[in-house]
Amino acid sequence: MNIRNAQKSINNLFIPPNSQKALDIGAYSGVILKVFSIINKKRGNGMIFYFTGTGNSLYAAKKLAEKLGESEVYSMAEYKSDGQTGGKGEIIGFVFPSYYGNLPRIVKRFIENLDIHPGAYIFGIVTMGGSGTGSISALEKLLDGKGLKLSYGCGIFMPANYIAKYNPMFLGRTAKSGRRIEKIAGDIKSGKKSVRKNSITSDFLYMNTEELDKAFYAEDSCSGCGLCEKTCPVGNIRLEKNRPRWLGNCEHCMACIHRCPQKAIQYGEKTKKRRRYYNTEV
Ligand SMILES: Cc1cc2nc3c(=O)[nH]c(=O)nc-3n(C[C@H](O)[C@H](O)[C@H](O)COP(=O)(O)O)c2cc1C
Ligand code: SF4
Ligand code: SF4
Repeated sequence: MNIRNAQKSINNLFIPPNSQKALDIGAYSGVILKVFSIINKKRGNGMIFYFTGTGNSLYAAKKLAEKLGESEVYSMAEYKSDGQTGGKGEIIGFVFPSYYGNLPRIVKRFIENLDIHPGAYIFGIVTMGGSGTGSISALEKLLDGKGLKLSYGCGIFMPANYIAKYNPMFLGRTAKSGRRIEKIAGDIKSGKKSVRKNSITSDFLYMNTEELDKAFYAEDSCSGCGLCEKTCPVGNIRLEKNRPRWLGNCEHCMACIHRCPQKAIQYGEKTKKRRRYYNTEV
């Protein structure tokens, strides 16, 4: 039932025209409807912003939106804001991977520049391979600096994708994440206030940023298909003479190396023997 119909039926039920009682009941129904409207706002109209390299965070964002209902998912790499985002009691969520127990730089930039209604219910969910909730502490600190409160934050264990450092592992985790996501959606729907965090964090990706893609190269098996150029969320790859060139503004998301259909992209020597991973559930 929408709010206007609810107003009508409450009035029709109780109000004999032109009586004082009618006015009292009218005021009473107004209060009921205000509560109804707040609950309604809490439970729907959610905006969930995601950033992903290999699909885990997109998967989690989509599943959360589905469980929350009336929620839309937006890419942080593409979203263009047109004024203030959210309203009082409305849900604004951020879903992203943990990078060194910190925020991916693109996530930090995006939230820094987003004008968020101070009365919004803000949540942050970090997808992580190990202990990544330092990213939630970083998010809380960032919001705090903008005069905003993080209402809810926690992590979801997902496949660990950092191929530059290790062989990707825990690949079966996505299939097991359903109950965790359902629990989180239930918490958010009920307006729960809870922030899980830790202090393990590093600024590694915020230092020497132009060096982050120096170790990438494509082997001769590259077919020149251009998928790496299309896949990079920040336009950091350009095809030149049918070979990718990295442009020095890398987020270190590992999408290019994992998605190359020829497994032609390497990061130094060690990745030659490591498996490629992309979340195929999204
Ligand atoms: C550069 C980089 C740093 C990472 N650092 C962490 C970390 O500190 N803690 C952790 O639990 N996982 C870490 N991971 C693993 C990812 O956070 C995890 O696999 C995540 O689910 C990937 O999400 P995506 O598929 O949405 O990109 C790191 C991955 C990358 C690429
Ligand atoms: S995705 Fe792989 S095969 Fe395609 S252009 Fe890039 S490096 Fe070459
Ligand atoms: S160059 Fe590769 S690792 Fe860097 S941001 Fe683009 S896709 Fe991600």
